[in-house]
Amino acid sequence: MRVSFASLSLPKSGAVIVGVKKDKTLTPAAKELDKLSGGAVKRALSSGRFTGAKGQALEIVAPSGLGNSRILLVGMGKGLNVLEQQALGGRILARLNSVGETAATLIVDDGAEDLAAAAAQIAYGARLKNYRYDRYRTKEDASKKPTLRTLAIRVDGFAKARRAFAMYDKVADGVFFTRDLVSAPPNDLYPESFAAEAKKLSELGVKVEVLGEKQMARLGMGSLLGVGQGSRRESRLVVMRWNGAARNKQPVAFVGKGVTFDTGGISLKPAQGMEEMKWDMGGAGTVSGLMKSVAGRKAKANVVGVIGLVENMPDGNAQRPGDIVTSMSGQTIEIINTDAEGRLVLADALWYTQDRFKPQFMVDLATLTGAIIISLGHEHAGLFSNNDALSANLLAAGEATGEKLWRFPLAKEYDKMLESAAADMKNIGGRPAGSITAAQFLQRFVNKTPWAHLDIAAVAWSSKEKDTVPKGGTGFGVRLLDNLVNEYYED
Ligand code: BES
Ligand code: MN
Ligand code: ZN
Repeated sequence: MRVSFASLSLPKSGAVIVGVKKDKTLTPAAKELDKLSGGAVKRALSSGRFTGAKGQALEIVAPSGLGNSRILLVGMGKGLNVLEQQALGGRILARLNSVGETAATLIVDDGAEDLAAAAAQIAYGARLKNYRYDRYRTKEDASKKPTLRTLAIRVDGFAKARRAFAMYDKVADGVFFTRDLVSAPPNDLYPESFAAEAKKLSELGVKVEVLGEKQMARLGMGSLLGVGQGSRRESRLVVMRWNGAARNKQPVAFVGKGVTFDTGGISLKPAQGMEEMKWDMGGAGTVSGLMKSVAGRKAKANVVGVIGLVENMPDGNAQRPGDIVTSMSGQTIEIINTDAEGRLVLADALWYTQDRFKPQFMVDLATLTGAIIISLGHEHAGLFSNNDALSANLLAAGEATGEKLWRFPLAKEYDKMLESAAADMKNIGGRPAGSITAAQFLQRFVNKTPWAHLDIAAVAWSSKEKDTVPKGGTGFGVRLLDNLVNEYYED
C-alpha cells in the first residue's frame, strides 16, 4: 500500500473518507460532499444508529452526483487522542480491504488540534494494520486478498504530516520484521537462519556479529549451550549495534530470548498447542525489530541488541533434569525442569551484555512463563525491574504506545525459592509466583546495571484481531521500546 500526503481537496474517484463528530455534526468535507451529492450524507444520517460517536462508521455506496465509489463516514466523537487516531486508521484500512476498494482518500480537516499530526497518526494506524503473513498460502482465492493499493491523505500542512509519518513508517518496518520472524515456521526459522535474517540489518548500518557454539563455549556460556544441546541445529548469539550517538556515549541494551522452538526438552510439553512454541523466539524477534526501527529512522542513540538463539529439543544428547551447568558468570545451575529454558538462555546473554557493553540499562524481553498469562491475561506484559526510574519510563512508553506494562514485585523471599541443595541455584522456583521467581532467576545474572525484564508470553501472539494488529505475531514491544529510546535516551 502506498501512503501519500497532499493539500486539502476532494478526490474525483475512489473511496473518500470523511469525519462526522458527536451528534451528527458534519466536518467541512462531509458538508461539501453532502452538497455535491444532493444531500446524500444527511439522508444517510437521518436513519440508523450512526451518530458520529467514536468507533462508528457508515458507508454511502455509489453516491449520485459524484465520481467516487463510496463515501465512508467515520465517527470522531468530541475528538480523538493519539491511540484513537491510530485505531481509526486501522479500522478504515480493514474496512476498505474487506469491501474490495483499491484507492482511497482520507480528508483530515477537523476534530483535532494539530490536524497534520492527527493525519500522520491515522496513516500510521493504517500502515500497522496492513500486514499479513502469506508466504505459504499458495491457493488463496483472490476475493479474500487485501485490495487497497493507495491511501491518499489530504490535510492542511501536509508536508509536516509527511515528515511525521516518515518516522512512524520506519517503526512499522521494524514491527513487520518482528511479525515476520514470529510468524515463520520453525523448520524455516532456526538459530542459524534467524542469525542470517539479523545479518540483513547491516544494510541499514547496523553492525551485526554472530557467535557460534565454539565461541560461546570459549566464553563459558554453559547455561545457554545446555539448552541447545539436544538440537540438530547449532545455537547462536547475535550482537547487533546501532551507533547513532557520540562514540563515548554509553549504549542502551536490549536482550531477547530466542528459543526458535520449545518442545520443553526432556521435560516434554504436552502435544496440545505445542505448535505455538514456534513463537518462543518472540523476545529476540522484538529486539531485532527494534534494531530495524532505530536504524531505519537513524535514532541519535547508541543501541545494542543481543539475542540468544537456541532450539529446545529432546534427544539422546539433550540436557537432563538433574544436570548442573556452569554459566558465564561462574554461577552453577541445577536443571530441575528442562522446560524452564528461556531463563537459562538469558542468564548468559544478560551477563555477556553487561560485561561487554557496560550499558546505561538493559531491558530483556522473553516469552518466559505461562504464569504471566494467568496473571495478566493478554492485556499487559509483565514488568520486573531493579530500578524505579527505568520502570517509570517503560510504563510511560507503554501508555503512550498502547503496549501496556504492569509492574510486579521482586524480593529476597522470592529469590530464596531458587535455592538448590546441589548447586548455586535451581532453574525453577515451583508453581507459586512462577513469573516472579523466573525474574528473580534472571536478576542473579545482573549486577548493579539498571535492568528490566518484560515477560511477553501473553502478548507476542494474538488469536484475536485488534485495531492496529492483525491476528498472529503482534510485534509487541517494538513501538514501546522505540518510544522509550526516542523519548528518554536520544541526544
Ligand atoms: N516458553 C515457555 C513459556 C510460554 C508458555 C510462552 C506459554 C508462551 C506461552 C517457557 O519456556 C516455559 O515452558 N515455561 C514453563 C516454566 C516452568 C517449567 C517453570 C511454564 O511456564 O510452564
Ligand atoms: Mn519452556
Ligand atoms: Zn520457552
